[in-house]
Amino acid sequence: MSQDQWSAVDNYFYRMLNQPDAALENVLQVNREQGFPSHDVSENQGVFLRLLAEMQGARRILEVGTLGGYSTICLARALPTDGRLFSFEIDPKRVAIARKNVELAGLTDRVEIIEGPAADSLDKFALTNPEPFDFVFIDADKKNNSTYFRWALRFSRPGTVIIVDNVVRAGAILSESTENPCVLGVRRLNELIASEPRVEATALQTVGTKGWDGFIMARVRSS
Ligand code: DHB
Ligand code: MG
Repeated sequence: MSQDQWSAVDNYFYRMLNQPDAALENVLQVNREQGFPSHDVSENQGVFLRLLAEMQGARRILEVGTLGGYSTICLARALPTDGRLFSFEIDPKRVAIARKNVELAGLTDRVEIIEGPAADSLDKFALTNPEPFDFVFIDADKKNNSTYFRWALRFSRPGTVIIVDNVVRAGAILSESTENPCVLGVRRLNELIASEPRVEATALQTVGTKGWDGFIMARVRSS
């Protein structure tokens, strides 16, 4: 199988199962114009995340890594009108663009984008926002995956769902010789999850427009 076939099938299903979506197309176009890396979740993955958050009945969502706000918008659409999504992003330019994209999507009332290194921002955020999150999406600098996962756990309740993007990296996760800090970051995360009795977890490999990659899905145990 080739990348072209993965993309063609991915696009076929997205177009088949979804109506054109001006707000999301706008994000992708603005991101391209700004020269942002095309690291947004794919269109199908965006729907997948929204459906997961809806199935979870999420009212409070935490996102680490906003980029241009593509996944932010997908996830915020899962929220009831009084729900809240807090998204953490280090890059001021991305923050500004993402805020505009969220506004164009009509979701400003539900979304707050917090600028700065997420670990520092979360430390501050925790002082005034002790409530747990129902759903967490971690999609930021991979070397700090375990730091963000620890924060997700601190903000969790029994049943909280935590998704981590980009854990397969075209199979690099198994490369013995790798010194790639992203891969090493995913491995440290896996060791943390394996040693953490509070969660159960699985990984789902994906192919599609973003190549061969995958998600970890963890759930905080009920007892
Ligand atoms: C990279 C980061 C992402 O979040 C992603 O979805 C794909 C690639 C990267 O840093 O290479
Ligand atoms: Mg990603």
